[in-house]
Amino acid sequence: MTKITFTAKAKTAPETIRSECLVLPVFQTASGSAAKPDIGSRLASRVADHLRLGDFKGASGSTVLITGDGSIKRIMLVGCGGKKKFDRFGQRRFAETVGRELSRLKAKEATVNLQGVALSADALAQTLEDLASQVVTACYVYDRTLTKTVEKPALRKVVIISDGTLSPAKSKTAVATGEALGLGANLARELGNTPGNICTPRFLSKQARQLAKTHKALKTSILDEAKMRELGMGSLLSVGHGSDEPSQLIVMEYRGGKAKDRPYALVGKGITFDTGGISLKPGPKMDEMKFDMGGAASVFGTLHAIASMELPINVVGVVAAAENMPSGRATKPGDVVKSLSGKTIEILNTDAEGRLVLCDALTYVGRYKPVEVVDIATLTGAIIVSLGHEACGVFANDDDLADALLQAGEKSHDRGWRMPIWDDYQRQLDSRFADMQNIGTGTAGSVTAACFLARFAEDYKWAHLDVAGTAFRSAPKGATGRPVPMLVQYLRARAGG
Ligand code: BES
Ligand code: MN
Ligand code: ZN
Repeated sequence: MTKITFTAKAKTAPETIRSECLVLPVFQTASGSAAKPDIGSRLASRVADHLRLGDFKGASGSTVLITGDGSIKRIMLVGCGGKKKFDRFGQRRFAETVGRELSRLKAKEATVNLQGVALSADALAQTLEDLASQVVTACYVYDRTLTKTVEKPALRKVVIISDGTLSPAKSKTAVATGEALGLGANLARELGNTPGNICTPRFLSKQARQLAKTHKALKTSILDEAKMRELGMGSLLSVGHGSDEPSQLIVMEYRGGKAKDRPYALVGKGITFDTGGISLKPGPKMDEMKFDMGGAASVFGTLHAIASMELPINVVGVVAAAENMPSGRATKPGDVVKSLSGKTIEILNTDAEGRLVLCDALTYVGRYKPVEVVDIATLTGAIIVSLGHEACGVFANDDDLADALLQAGEKSHDRGWRMPIWDDYQRQLDSRFADMQNIGTGTAGSVTAACFLARFAEDYKWAHLDVAGTAFRSAPKGATGRPVPMLVQYLRARAGG
Protein backbone atom coordinates (compact mmCIF):
# COMPACT_ATOMS: atom_id res chain seq x y z
CA MET A 1 0.00 0.00 0.00
CA THR A 2 1.24 3.47 -0.80
CA LYS A 3 2.00 5.41 2.32
CA ILE A 4 -0.38 8.05 3.60
CA THR A 5 1.20 10.86 5.62
CA PHE A 6 -0.65 12.32 8.58
CA THR A 7 -0.02 15.76 10.02
CA ALA A 8 -1.66 17.16 13.13
CA LYS A 9 -1.92 20.95 13.24
CA ALA A 10 -3.38 23.34 15.77
CA LYS A 11 -5.39 26.52 15.33
CA THR A 12 -5.58 27.51 11.70
CA ALA A 13 -7.96 30.18 10.47
CA PRO A 14 -10.44 28.41 8.17
CA GLU A 15 -10.00 31.19 5.58
CA THR A 16 -6.35 30.27 5.11
CA ILE A 17 -6.89 26.53 4.52
CA ARG A 18 -6.02 25.20 1.10
CA SER A 19 -7.13 21.64 0.44
CA GLU A 20 -8.38 19.18 -2.15
CA CYS A 21 -11.05 18.18 0.35
CA LEU A 22 -11.98 19.99 3.51
CA VAL A 23 -13.77 17.68 5.94
CA LEU A 24 -16.15 19.36 8.36
CA PRO A 25 -17.96 17.66 11.23
CA VAL A 26 -21.57 18.87 11.36
CA PHE A 27 -23.80 18.49 14.40
CA GLN A 28 -27.55 18.15 14.51
CA THR A 29 -29.64 20.79 16.30
CA ALA A 30 -32.44 19.96 18.72
CA SER A 31 -34.94 20.53 15.92
CA GLY A 32 -33.24 17.87 13.77
CA SER A 33 -31.55 20.08 11.20
CA ALA A 34 -27.85 20.53 10.51
CA ALA A 35 -26.03 23.19 12.51
CA LYS A 36 -23.83 25.53 10.47
CA PRO A 37 -20.18 24.48 10.71
CA ASP A 38 -17.44 27.03 11.30
CA ILE A 39 -15.76 27.42 7.94
CA GLY A 40 -14.84 31.10 7.73
CA SER A 41 -16.36 33.70 5.49
CA ARG A 42 -15.19 32.62 2.06
CA LEU A 43 -17.11 29.38 1.53
CA ALA A 44 -19.58 29.79 4.36
CA SER A 45 -22.37 30.94 2.07
CA ARG A 46 -21.95 27.94 -0.19
CA VAL A 47 -22.30 25.57 2.76
CA ALA A 48 -25.21 27.59 4.13
CA ASP A 49 -26.96 27.43 0.72
CA HIS A 50 -26.62 23.68 0.72
CA LEU A 51 -27.84 23.24 4.27
CA ARG A 52 -30.87 25.42 3.48
CA LEU A 53 -31.98 22.79 0.97
CA GLY A 54 -32.57 20.57 4.01
CA ASP A 55 -31.33 17.32 2.44
CA PHE A 56 -28.46 16.96 4.87
CA LYS A 57 -29.51 16.90 8.50
CA GLY A 58 -26.22 16.12 10.22
CA ALA A 59 -27.30 12.62 11.28
CA SER A 60 -24.42 10.48 12.60
CA GLY A 61 -22.70 8.62 9.76
CA SER A 62 -24.29 10.66 6.95
CA THR A 63 -22.16 12.68 4.53
CA VAL A 64 -22.50 15.11 1.65
CA LEU A 65 -19.91 16.39 -0.78
CA ILE A 66 -20.10 19.98 -2.07
CA THR A 67 -18.03 21.46 -4.86
CA GLY A 68 -15.68 24.12 -3.50
CA ASP A 69 -13.53 26.68 -5.28
CA GLY A 70 -9.92 27.17 -6.39
CA SER A 71 -8.24 26.65 -3.06
CA ILE A 72 -10.72 24.31 -1.38
CA LYS A 73 -11.80 21.94 -4.13
CA ARG A 74 -14.34 19.92 -2.18
CA ILE A 75 -16.16 20.33 1.09
CA MET A 76 -17.22 17.14 2.81
CA LEU A 77 -19.84 17.57 5.50
CA VAL A 78 -19.86 14.65 7.92
CA GLY A 79 -22.87 14.26 10.20
CA CYS A 80 -22.07 13.76 13.87
CA GLY A 81 -25.59 13.68 15.37
CA GLY A 82 -26.49 15.71 18.47
CA LYS A 83 -23.55 17.46 20.10
CA LYS A 84 -24.44 16.11 23.56
CA LYS A 85 -24.51 12.56 22.22
CA PHE A 86 -21.10 12.88 20.54
CA ASP A 87 -19.54 10.29 22.84
CA ARG A 88 -16.77 7.78 22.22
CA PHE A 89 -19.08 5.79 19.97
CA GLY A 90 -20.05 8.87 17.93
CA GLN A 91 -16.45 10.01 17.66
CA ARG A 92 -15.41 6.61 16.42
CA ARG A 93 -18.22 6.55 13.90
CA PHE A 94 -17.10 9.96 12.65
CA ALA A 95 -13.57 8.65 12.07
CA GLU A 96 -14.90 5.55 10.35
CA THR A 97 -17.12 7.64 8.06
CA VAL A 98 -14.27 10.00 7.17
CA GLY A 99 -11.99 7.06 6.33
CA ARG A 100 -14.58 5.35 4.18
CA GLU A 101 -15.56 8.47 2.24
CA LEU A 102 -12.03 9.78 1.70
CA SER A 103 -10.93 6.42 0.31
CA ARG A 104 -13.52 6.82 -2.45
CA LEU A 105 -12.39 10.22 -3.71
CA LYS A 106 -9.84 11.21 -6.33
CA ALA A 107 -8.44 13.73 -3.87
CA LYS A 108 -4.78 13.10 -2.98
CA GLU A 109 -4.99 15.28 0.08
CA ALA A 110 -7.64 16.05 2.66
CA THR A 111 -7.85 18.37 5.64
CA VAL A 112 -10.07 17.51 8.58
CA ASN A 113 -11.06 20.58 10.59
CA LEU A 114 -11.85 19.62 14.17
CA GLN A 115 -11.69 23.22 15.41
CA GLY A 116 -14.72 24.14 17.44
CA VAL A 117 -15.68 20.53 18.20
CA ALA A 118 -14.57 21.08 21.82
CA LEU A 119 -13.18 17.64 22.62
CA SER A 120 -11.35 16.99 25.89
CA ALA A 121 -7.62 16.29 25.53
CA ASP A 122 -8.24 12.53 25.93
CA ALA A 123 -11.09 12.49 23.44
CA LEU A 124 -9.05 14.49 20.95
CA ALA A 125 -6.10 12.11 21.26
CA GLN A 126 -8.45 9.19 20.72
CA THR A 127 -10.07 10.88 17.71
CA LEU A 128 -6.71 11.67 16.10
CA GLU A 129 -5.76 8.04 16.61
CA ASP A 130 -9.09 6.80 15.25
CA LEU A 131 -8.89 9.05 12.19
CA ALA A 132 -5.42 7.79 11.31
CA SER A 133 -6.25 4.12 11.86
CA GLN A 134 -9.60 4.33 10.03
CA VAL A 135 -8.12 6.11 7.02
CA VAL A 136 -5.31 3.55 6.79
CA THR A 137 -7.65 0.55 6.99
CA ALA A 138 -10.22 2.10 4.62
CA CYS A 139 -7.51 2.57 1.99
CA TYR A 140 -6.39 -1.08 2.09
CA VAL A 141 -6.97 -2.89 -1.19
CA TYR A 142 -6.16 -6.54 -1.85
CA ASP A 143 -4.44 -6.99 -5.21
CA ARG A 144 -1.72 -9.59 -4.69
CA THR A 145 -3.27 -12.07 -7.10
CA LEU A 146 -5.01 -9.70 -9.53
CA THR A 147 -3.72 -8.74 -12.96
CA LYS A 148 -6.81 -6.73 -13.87
CA THR A 149 -6.50 -3.17 -12.67
CA VAL A 150 -8.27 -2.28 -9.47
CA GLU A 151 -9.00 1.30 -8.63
CA LYS A 152 -6.94 2.30 -5.65
CA PRO A 153 -7.53 5.18 -3.27
CA ALA A 154 -5.73 8.34 -4.41
CA LEU A 155 -5.27 9.67 -0.88
CA ARG A 156 -1.65 10.40 0.13
CA LYS A 157 -1.87 13.07 2.78
CA VAL A 158 -4.24 13.89 5.61
CA VAL A 159 -3.98 17.05 7.71
CA ILE A 160 -5.97 17.22 10.93
CA ILE A 161 -6.48 20.63 12.51
CA SER A 162 -7.61 20.86 16.12
CA ASP A 163 -8.14 23.53 18.75
CA GLY A 164 -4.75 23.03 20.40
CA THR A 165 -6.10 21.22 23.46
CA LEU A 166 -3.34 18.69 22.96
CA SER A 167 0.39 19.44 22.77
CA PRO A 168 2.00 19.06 19.34
CA ALA A 169 4.06 16.14 20.65
CA LYS A 170 0.99 14.31 21.97
CA SER A 171 -0.93 15.00 18.76
CA LYS A 172 1.93 13.57 16.75
CA THR A 173 2.05 10.44 18.92
CA ALA A 174 -1.70 9.97 18.60
CA VAL A 175 -1.70 9.96 14.79
CA ALA A 176 1.43 7.79 14.69
CA THR A 177 -0.23 5.31 17.05
CA GLY A 178 -3.35 5.21 14.89
CA GLU A 179 -1.30 4.71 11.79
CA ALA A 180 0.65 1.83 13.39
CA LEU A 181 -2.58 0.19 14.48
CA GLY A 182 -4.08 0.53 11.00
CA LEU A 183 -0.99 -0.91 9.33
CA GLY A 184 -0.97 -3.81 11.81
CA ALA A 185 -4.60 -4.62 11.02
CA ASN A 186 -3.86 -4.35 7.29
CA LEU A 187 -0.96 -6.78 7.59
CA ALA A 188 -3.28 -9.28 9.29
CA ARG A 189 -5.86 -8.78 6.52
CA GLU A 190 -3.30 -9.19 3.74
CA LEU A 191 -2.02 -12.48 5.20
CA GLY A 192 -5.58 -13.72 5.69
CA ASN A 193 -6.68 -12.77 2.18
CA THR A 194 -3.67 -14.38 0.50
CA PRO A 195 -4.81 -17.75 -0.92
CA GLY A 196 -3.70 -21.04 0.63
CA ASN A 197 -1.50 -22.04 -2.31
CA ILE A 198 0.65 -18.96 -1.65
CA CYS A 199 0.15 -18.45 2.09
CA THR A 200 1.62 -21.75 3.31
CA PRO A 201 3.35 -22.42 6.63
CA ARG A 202 6.71 -21.60 5.02
CA PHE A 203 5.26 -18.40 3.57
CA LEU A 204 4.33 -17.37 7.11
CA SER A 205 7.91 -18.12 8.23
CA LYS A 206 9.17 -15.84 5.48
CA GLN A 207 6.81 -13.10 6.65
CA ALA A 208 8.15 -13.48 10.17
CA ARG A 209 11.73 -13.11 9.00
CA GLN A 210 10.72 -10.07 6.99
CA LEU A 211 9.02 -8.51 10.02
CA ALA A 212 12.25 -8.98 11.98
CA LYS A 213 14.06 -7.06 9.24
CA THR A 214 11.58 -4.18 9.56
CA HIS A 215 11.89 -3.89 13.34
CA LYS A 216 15.25 -3.88 15.15
CA ALA A 217 13.62 -5.00 18.41
CA LEU A 218 12.11 -8.10 16.80
CA LYS A 219 13.87 -11.45 16.43
CA THR A 220 12.50 -14.46 14.58
CA SER A 221 13.36 -18.14 14.87
CA ILE A 222 11.72 -21.09 13.16
CA LEU A 223 11.36 -24.66 14.38
CA ASP A 224 11.11 -27.04 11.42
CA GLU A 225 9.53 -30.52 11.52
CA ALA A 226 12.80 -32.27 12.44
CA LYS A 227 13.26 -29.95 15.44
CA MET A 228 9.62 -30.36 16.50
CA ARG A 229 9.92 -34.14 16.28
CA GLU A 230 13.04 -34.02 18.42
CA LEU A 231 11.17 -31.97 21.03
CA GLY A 232 8.17 -34.33 20.94
CA MET A 233 5.45 -32.17 19.40
CA GLY A 234 3.49 -35.19 18.22
CA SER A 235 0.16 -33.41 18.34
CA LEU A 236 1.14 -30.43 16.19
CA LEU A 237 2.96 -32.67 13.72
CA SER A 238 -0.04 -34.99 13.33
CA VAL A 239 -2.04 -32.15 11.73
CA GLY A 240 0.39 -31.51 8.87
CA HIS A 241 1.09 -35.21 8.32
CA GLY A 242 -1.21 -35.49 5.33
CA SER A 243 0.20 -32.37 3.69
CA ASP A 244 3.14 -31.91 1.34
CA GLU A 245 3.75 -28.55 3.02
CA PRO A 246 6.00 -28.87 6.07
CA SER A 247 4.63 -27.51 9.35
CA GLN A 248 6.43 -24.65 11.05
CA LEU A 249 6.57 -23.31 14.58
CA ILE A 250 7.35 -19.62 14.24
CA VAL A 251 8.71 -17.71 17.22
CA MET A 252 8.95 -13.92 17.19
CA GLU A 253 10.49 -12.15 20.17
CA TYR A 254 9.83 -8.45 20.59
CA ARG A 255 12.12 -6.80 23.13
CA GLY A 256 10.83 -3.35 23.95
CA GLY A 257 11.09 -3.77 27.71
CA LYS A 258 13.99 -4.38 30.07
CA ALA A 259 16.12 -7.46 29.45
CA LYS A 260 14.86 -9.06 32.66
CA ASP A 261 11.13 -8.34 32.15
CA ARG A 262 9.10 -11.51 31.66
CA PRO A 263 7.27 -11.41 28.31
CA TYR A 264 3.62 -11.39 27.42
CA ALA A 265 2.86 -14.20 24.99
CA LEU A 266 0.58 -14.37 21.96
CA VAL A 267 -0.03 -17.78 20.40
CA GLY A 268 -1.76 -17.93 17.01
CA LYS A 269 -3.50 -20.77 15.18
CA GLY A 270 -1.88 -20.82 11.75
CA ILE A 271 -3.76 -23.44 9.74
CA THR A 272 -3.03 -22.10 6.26
CA PHE A 273 -5.79 -24.28 4.85
CA ASP A 274 -8.23 -26.50 6.70
CA THR A 275 -9.83 -29.18 4.55
CA GLY A 276 -10.83 -31.04 7.70
CA GLY A 277 -8.36 -33.78 6.83
CA ILE A 278 -9.80 -37.32 6.67
CA SER A 279 -12.87 -35.91 8.49
CA LEU A 280 -13.28 -33.89 5.28
CA LYS A 281 -15.34 -30.72 5.34
CA PRO A 282 -18.31 -30.32 2.98
CA GLY A 283 -17.62 -28.50 -0.30
CA PRO A 284 -19.61 -25.27 -0.05
CA LYS A 285 -17.60 -22.35 1.31
CA MET A 286 -14.57 -24.54 1.93
CA ASP A 287 -12.46 -21.82 0.28
CA GLU A 288 -13.04 -19.74 3.43
CA MET A 289 -10.78 -22.13 5.30
CA LYS A 290 -7.84 -20.19 3.84
CA PHE A 291 -8.73 -17.75 6.64
CA ASP A 292 -7.99 -20.46 9.22
CA MET A 293 -4.67 -18.74 9.95
CA GLY A 294 -6.51 -15.62 11.13
CA GLY A 295 -5.24 -16.08 14.69
CA ALA A 296 -1.66 -16.26 13.41
CA ALA A 297 -2.28 -13.22 11.20
CA SER A 298 -3.37 -11.24 14.25
CA VAL A 299 -0.12 -12.14 16.02
CA PHE A 300 1.86 -10.75 13.06
CA GLY A 301 -0.33 -7.65 12.87
CA THR A 302 -0.15 -6.98 16.61
CA LEU A 303 3.64 -7.37 16.72
CA HIS A 304 4.01 -5.07 13.71
CA ALA A 305 1.86 -2.44 15.43
CA ILE A 306 3.45 -2.58 18.89
CA ALA A 307 6.97 -2.64 17.45
CA SER A 308 6.15 0.53 15.47
CA MET A 309 4.75 2.07 18.65
CA GLU A 310 7.88 0.95 20.52
CA LEU A 311 5.82 -0.30 23.48
CA PRO A 312 8.12 -0.70 26.50
CA ILE A 313 7.34 -4.37 27.15
CA ASN A 314 8.59 -7.74 25.98
CA VAL A 315 6.25 -9.89 23.89
CA VAL A 316 6.78 -13.32 22.42
CA GLY A 317 4.60 -14.32 19.49
CA VAL A 318 4.30 -18.00 18.61
CA VAL A 319 2.56 -19.20 15.46
CA ALA A 320 1.68 -22.86 15.02
CA ALA A 321 1.54 -23.22 11.24
CA ALA A 322 0.34 -26.29 9.38
CA GLU A 323 -1.87 -27.32 6.47
CA ASN A 324 -4.65 -29.80 7.26
CA MET A 325 -5.00 -32.18 4.29
CA PRO A 326 -6.29 -35.70 3.65
CA SER A 327 -3.84 -38.14 2.05
CA GLY A 328 -2.40 -41.63 2.44
CA ARG A 329 -0.21 -40.26 5.20
CA ALA A 330 -2.89 -38.26 6.94
CA THR A 331 -3.91 -38.78 10.56
CA LYS A 332 -7.06 -40.94 10.87
CA PRO A 333 -9.93 -40.82 13.34
CA GLY A 334 -9.01 -43.06 16.24
CA ASP A 335 -5.27 -42.36 15.97
CA VAL A 336 -3.57 -41.56 19.27
CA VAL A 337 -0.76 -39.01 19.38
CA LYS A 338 1.58 -37.84 22.14
CA SER A 339 1.73 -34.11 22.80
CA LEU A 340 4.77 -32.10 23.92
CA SER A 341 3.30 -32.06 27.44
CA GLY A 342 3.51 -35.85 27.50
CA LYS A 343 -0.28 -36.25 27.53
CA THR A 344 -1.77 -38.51 24.87
CA ILE A 345 -4.70 -37.49 22.65
CA GLU A 346 -7.18 -39.65 20.79
CA ILE A 347 -8.02 -37.83 17.56
CA LEU A 348 -11.67 -38.66 16.94
CA ASN A 349 -12.16 -35.89 14.38
CA THR A 350 -9.28 -34.64 12.25
CA ASP A 351 -11.26 -31.43 11.62
CA ALA A 352 -10.73 -30.43 15.26
CA GLU A 353 -7.12 -29.66 14.34
CA GLY A 354 -6.69 -26.16 15.73
CA ARG A 355 -6.52 -27.36 19.32
CA LEU A 356 -3.99 -30.03 18.26
CA VAL A 357 -1.49 -27.50 16.96
CA LEU A 358 -2.22 -25.00 19.75
CA CYS A 359 -1.73 -27.41 22.64
CA ASP A 360 1.90 -28.02 21.69
CA ALA A 361 2.50 -24.31 21.08
CA LEU A 362 0.99 -23.56 24.50
CA THR A 363 3.30 -26.05 26.18
CA TYR A 364 6.27 -24.68 24.25
CA VAL A 365 5.60 -21.05 25.18
CA GLY A 366 5.81 -22.01 28.87
CA ARG A 367 9.61 -21.99 28.56
CA TYR A 368 9.50 -18.20 28.22
CA LYS A 369 7.96 -17.91 31.72
CA PRO A 370 5.31 -15.56 30.32
CA VAL A 371 3.40 -13.09 32.50
CA GLU A 372 0.22 -13.91 30.59
CA VAL A 373 -0.54 -15.98 27.51
CA VAL A 374 -3.29 -15.17 25.01
CA ASP A 375 -4.01 -17.59 22.20
CA ILE A 376 -6.00 -16.49 19.18
CA ALA A 377 -7.73 -19.00 16.94
CA THR A 378 -10.49 -19.44 14.38
CA LEU A 379 -11.27 -22.48 16.47
CA THR A 380 -14.94 -23.42 16.23
CA GLY A 381 -17.97 -22.87 14.04
CA ALA A 382 -19.96 -23.08 17.29
CA ILE A 383 -18.71 -19.67 18.44
CA ILE A 384 -20.49 -18.14 15.42
CA VAL A 385 -23.71 -19.76 16.65
CA SER A 386 -23.14 -18.24 20.11
CA LEU A 387 -21.89 -14.75 19.30
CA GLY A 388 -22.31 -14.22 15.56
CA HIS A 389 -19.84 -11.94 13.82
CA GLU A 390 -19.98 -9.17 16.42
CA ALA A 391 -17.90 -10.44 19.33
CA CYS A 392 -15.18 -13.03 19.72
CA GLY A 393 -15.36 -15.58 22.53
CA VAL A 394 -13.11 -14.86 25.51
CA PHE A 395 -12.15 -17.85 27.67
CA ALA A 396 -9.70 -17.46 30.54
CA ASN A 397 -8.35 -19.19 33.64
CA ASP A 398 -7.77 -15.76 35.23
CA ASP A 399 -10.44 -13.09 35.85
CA ASP A 400 -8.06 -10.14 35.73
CA LEU A 401 -6.76 -11.20 32.31
CA ALA A 402 -10.29 -11.78 31.02
CA ASP A 403 -11.35 -8.31 32.20
CA ALA A 404 -8.28 -6.71 30.61
CA LEU A 405 -9.18 -8.25 27.25
CA LEU A 406 -12.88 -7.35 27.53
CA GLN A 407 -11.98 -3.75 28.41
CA ALA A 408 -9.45 -3.54 25.59
CA GLY A 409 -12.20 -4.78 23.28
CA GLU A 410 -14.58 -2.07 24.48
CA LYS A 411 -12.01 0.67 24.11
CA SER A 412 -11.00 -0.37 20.60
CA HIS A 413 -14.52 -1.36 19.56
CA ASP A 414 -13.22 -4.84 18.76
CA ARG A 415 -15.26 -6.58 21.34
CA GLY A 416 -15.24 -9.95 23.03
CA TRP A 417 -17.67 -11.70 25.36
CA ARG A 418 -16.68 -14.00 28.21
CA MET A 419 -17.49 -17.70 27.97
CA PRO A 420 -17.09 -20.40 30.65
CA ILE A 421 -14.45 -23.12 30.93
CA TRP A 422 -15.94 -24.82 33.99
CA ASP A 423 -14.70 -28.25 35.01
CA ASP A 424 -18.26 -29.54 34.46
CA TYR A 425 -17.54 -29.52 30.73
CA GLN A 426 -14.21 -31.34 30.99
CA ARG A 427 -15.71 -34.84 31.24
CA GLN A 428 -16.87 -34.54 27.61
CA LEU A 429 -13.20 -34.99 26.71
CA ASP A 430 -12.69 -38.29 28.57
CA SER A 431 -11.31 -41.04 26.33
CA ARG A 432 -10.98 -44.80 26.76
CA PHE A 433 -7.83 -44.97 24.62
CA ALA A 434 -5.87 -41.85 25.58
CA ASP A 435 -5.57 -39.20 28.28
CA MET A 436 -8.22 -37.21 26.42
CA GLN A 437 -10.03 -37.04 23.10
CA ASN A 438 -9.93 -34.03 20.80
CA ILE A 439 -13.70 -33.41 20.57
CA GLY A 440 -16.58 -33.18 23.02
CA THR A 441 -19.78 -35.16 22.83
CA GLY A 442 -21.86 -32.70 20.85
CA THR A 443 -22.91 -29.70 22.92
CA ALA A 444 -21.07 -26.43 23.69
CA GLY A 445 -18.45 -27.01 21.00
CA SER A 446 -16.57 -23.76 21.65
CA VAL A 447 -16.44 -24.44 25.38
CA THR A 448 -15.14 -27.99 25.07
CA ALA A 449 -12.51 -26.76 22.58
CA ALA A 450 -11.38 -24.15 25.14
CA CYS A 451 -11.48 -26.80 27.90
CA PHE A 452 -9.13 -28.92 25.81
CA LEU A 453 -6.67 -26.01 25.54
CA ALA A 454 -7.00 -25.20 29.26
CA ARG A 455 -5.42 -28.56 30.06
CA PHE A 456 -2.19 -27.33 28.44
CA ALA A 457 -2.23 -23.86 30.03
CA GLU A 458 -2.31 -24.75 33.71
CA ASP A 459 1.10 -23.27 34.54
CA TYR A 460 0.35 -19.63 33.72
CA LYS A 461 -2.38 -17.02 33.36
CA TRP A 462 -4.02 -17.77 30.06
CA ALA A 463 -6.84 -16.58 27.81
CA HIS A 464 -8.15 -17.97 24.56
CA LEU A 465 -9.91 -15.86 21.91
CA ASP A 466 -12.14 -17.81 19.53
CA VAL A 467 -12.26 -15.51 16.50
CA ALA A 468 -13.95 -17.84 13.98
CA GLY A 469 -16.82 -15.34 13.67
CA THR A 470 -14.83 -12.11 13.64
CA ALA A 471 -11.52 -12.66 11.80
CA PHE A 472 -13.14 -12.74 8.36
CA ARG A 473 -16.38 -11.93 6.54
CA SER A 474 -18.20 -13.97 3.90
CA ALA A 475 -19.73 -10.97 2.11
CA PRO A 476 -17.84 -9.04 0.99
CA LYS A 477 -15.42 -11.89 1.46
CA GLY A 478 -12.27 -10.87 3.26
CA ALA A 479 -10.18 -10.78 6.40
CA THR A 480 -11.18 -8.09 8.92
CA GLY A 481 -7.91 -7.60 10.80
CA ARG A 482 -9.62 -8.47 14.08
CA PRO A 483 -8.62 -8.94 16.86
CA VAL A 484 -5.53 -6.75 16.23
CA PRO A 485 -7.21 -3.65 17.74
CA MET A 486 -8.16 -5.56 20.91
CA LEU A 487 -4.73 -7.14 21.32
CA VAL A 488 -2.84 -3.92 20.69
CA GLN A 489 -5.03 -2.11 23.22
CA TYR A 490 -4.55 -4.91 25.76
CA LEU A 491 -0.76 -4.69 25.42
CA ARG A 492 -0.77 -0.88 25.52
CA ALA A 493 -2.72 -1.03 28.77
CA ARG A 494 -0.30 -3.63 30.15
CA ALA A 495 2.60 -1.40 29.11
CA GLY A 496 1.10 1.37 31.20
CA GLY A 497 -1.32 3.22 28.92
N1 BES B 1 -11.38 -23.94 11.38
C1 BES B 1 -12.51 -24.62 11.89
C2 BES B 1 -13.48 -23.67 12.62
C3 BES B 1 -14.17 -22.65 11.78
C4 BES B 1 -15.43 -22.88 11.27
C5 BES B 1 -13.58 -21.41 11.55
C6 BES B 1 -16.07 -21.92 10.52
C7 BES B 1 -14.22 -20.45 10.80
C8 BES B 1 -15.48 -20.71 10.29
C9 BES B 1 -12.07 -25.69 12.89
O1 BES B 1 -10.85 -26.29 12.61
C10 BES B 1 -13.10 -26.76 12.83
O2 BES B 1 -13.22 -27.39 11.83
N2 BES B 1 -13.82 -26.95 13.94
C11 BES B 1 -14.84 -27.92 14.01
C12 BES B 1 -14.71 -28.64 15.33
C13 BES B 1 -15.54 -29.88 15.42
C14 BES B 1 -15.01 -30.94 14.48
C15 BES B 1 -15.50 -30.38 16.84
C16 BES B 1 -16.18 -27.20 13.90
O3 BES B 1 -16.30 -26.09 14.41
O4 BES B 1 -17.06 -27.74 13.26
MN1 MN C 1 -11.02 -27.91 11.29
ZN1 ZN D 1 -9.51 -25.15 11.58
